[in-house]
Amino acid sequence: MRALIAGNWKMHGLAASRGEISALVAKMKAAAPTDCDVLICPPATLVAAFAAEFSGGPIQFGGQDCHGEPSGAHTGDISAEMFADASAAFVIVGHSERRANHNESDAEVRGKAEAVLRAGLTPIICVGESEAERKAGKALDIVGGQLEQSLPETSEDFVIAYEPVWAIGTGLTPTLADIAEMHAFIRAKTREDVRILYGGSVKPGNAEDILAIDNVNGALVGGASLKADDFYKIVMAAGGKQ
Ligand code: 13P
Repeated sequence: MRALIAGNWKMHGLAASRGEISALVAKMKAAAPTDCDVLICPPATLVAAFAAEFSGGPIQFGGQDCHGEPSGAHTGDISAEMFADASAAFVIVGHSERRANHNESDAEVRGKAEAVLRAGLTPIICVGESEAERKAGKALDIVGGQLEQSLPETSEDFVIAYEPVWAIGTGLTPTLADIAEMHAFIRAKTREDVRILYGGSVKPGNAEDILAIDNVNGALVGGASLKADDFYKIVMAAGGKQ
């Protein structure tokens, strides 16, 4: 399966950040072609401009969240159709920061994932347990419940991202054995052709080990996706992975 290395810029980046994309494209073009897909999800304000400037290149662009409806009286929200119109290829849904800061339920996340498919794009559906849940030995139960209730009921293409909440932005990661256990568990609950990404403090220094784990089909990268140098190293770590 072709790996997907996705960068989630979160609420970081201005028009001038095009320089990081430009640097990443230059590095990728100078190296042997990478056999993985590379995606950057910048703030929504930048998707259309980046997709236009870098169209036909080795990087795809995506949104970080969307509304479930195609249009309507929802001030400040952005629909999946609008991301399609901006030439996005993917939209992240159900990120733990959305679940925590905006009280998004599993049912809402499923609605958003279905909206992304309706718009002809690919959803990246995030799941993951909190630190307390992991310590209580409930990580598999929590993720299992999230999967049951937030995956779309479809045979269309979607991506799952396992992001333990306590590993996001902390520099902490589960052990390789814990990642392997969770990804095997997620695989057993979904199809063979669904890509399962790991996210949470993926850095150039740990990417190769994490990406070598069975059923880890790529990474969802936060902080280390903001700088072309770091992100490129993670892309290269995925280079040989099938
Ligand atoms: P960090 O890579 O900064 O830990 O963030 C992970 C994440 O939340 C990606 O969606």
